Amino acid sequence: MGESEALSMRPVAGSAGGDETVTRKGFLEIVLRMSAAGLAVAAIYPVSRYIMPPESGEASVSSVVLSLKPTDLAPGTGQIFKFGTRPGIIIRTPEGQIRAFSAICTHLSCTVQFREDIGHIWCACHNGHFDLNGRNIAGPPPAPLTPFEVKVRGDQILVSRGAVT
Ligand code: FES
Repeated sequence: MGESEALSMRPVAGSAGGDETVTRKGFLEIVLRMSAAGLAVAAIYPVSRYIMPPESGEASVSSVVLSLKPTDLAPGTGQIFKFGTRPGIIIRTPEGQIRAFSAICTHLSCTVQFREDIGHIWCACHNGHFDLNGRNIAGPPPAPLTPFEVKVRGDQILVSRGAVT
């Protein structure tokens, strides 16, 4: 035992000592490269998570039945509801029509609200205004709110992306 192990550990003249130095250097290079790769992943991962939006269940939702009844919605009022994971807004015009839209402002995606004092939909973030048809009428929003289809069936209000059947 002792004789053969002792021989293998002994540096061979002219090369073995150099090989041991190269091995340590190579090992250190591997460790440094792995550390650099780990740091790069640690820096890139949170940035990529920030840039790419998380998956949501919104795509699977095409219609919802609201928890409020048509009689809960007085003329000239509006309420926010959940359309999947996103907010929607349902309004009843002073004439009694019920309409629904995405409540996501087309400017920078704040949630809009119905303001009874001014009689239309308003975005508090940058003072954006939408009329009762969801059209952008004042402020920075560049486009109308996305309209939803509304169907009243007895005591139920159904809201959908397309026509309710
Ligand atoms: S996000 Fe609505 S006006 Fe800017």
